Amino acid sequence: MSPSEPWFGGKSVIVTGAGSGIGRAAARRFAQEGARVCVADLQSTAAQSVAREIVASGGDAFAITADVAQEADNLEMVNETVQRYGALDAVFLNAGFGGWAMNPLEGDLAEFDRIMAINLRGCYLGVRSAMRVMASGGAIVVTASAGGLVGVRSNPAYAASKHAVVGLVRSFAPTLAERGVRINALCPGGVRTPMVGIATEDLDVAPDALPMVRYGERAHPAHMAEVALFLASSRSAGVNGAAMLADGAQTSVLAPPTALRTST
Ligand SMILES: NC(=O)c1ccc[n+]([C@@H]2O[C@H](COP(=O)([O-])OP(=O)(O)OC[C@H]3O[C@@H](n4cnc5c(N)ncnc54)[C@H](O)[C@@H]3O)[C@@H](O)[C@H]2O)c1
Repeated sequence: MSPSEPWFGGKSVIVTGAGSGIGRAAARRFAQEGARVCVADLQSTAAQSVAREIVASGGDAFAITADVAQEADNLEMVNETVQRYGALDAVFLNAGFGGWAMNPLEGDLAEFDRIMAINLRGCYLGVRSAMRVMASGGAIVVTASAGGLVGVRSNPAYAASKHAVVGLVRSFAPTLAERGVRINALCPGGVRTPMVGIATEDLDVAPDALPMVRYGERAHPAHMAEVALFLASSRSAGVNGAAMLADGAQTSVLAPPTALRTST
């Protein structure tokens, strides 16, 4: 690949949770870099709208309605991509659920089950389904979280699901490597997306114009898209089984609880 060639020219990529936020930004960037994109989301209209955006900009994409927690949906997503594009080169398993409204001590356990089904079971199924068809040279990127590396006081279930996702990535890496496939986790800190109650903003930020994420700021979804593209491309050939933190140093220093600061 010469520096002037598109990163994903002629390659096919699945992005889950591609109807919104980080997934939408990534699906658009994959397409800009020449990928043919399967835009997968639980919400049909959102998936269709992102696929239309890509096609309207001259890219190649199709939408699929898929619940990542269901094995049949994962298999359909993979099979449909291979049928249309002839192969599956990269997968960005990004769909996730926050469950932020859950009270950790008293909340409904159905919310816990939903968090685990989408975030953990969804990734497990996504990897297994992709590996049915992915050839040597393929790459899988999974969206974990900075909350997959440190705890989240307000949301233990979410943090546990993302820790488990990091565990999946690390554990799958040697097995997938035997088949020439890499798998890495992207661990965002706060990102300005609907998941955290922030409306989608203009995504047309040129990659070279993205500002540094300052300490304490939430990133733009496009910041995360660039890291996902890097991890999915052969430029990260030396990276495997990694949990790549992209949190603007949010978790880099201790923030001691008030009680420790004041007791005398
Ligand atoms: N926004 C943040 O601050 C932040 C921080 C760390 C990690 N993350 C992770 O980033 C990923 C993307 O989140 P986002 O912030 O872009 O949120 P978002 O809400 O903007 O997008 C999530 C998308 O996932 C889809 N989705 C939800 N459940 C699904 C399912 N069962 N099957 C298929 N699609 C499903 C939703 O319909 C939505 O389009 C998630 O895994 C999330 O946990 C987000």
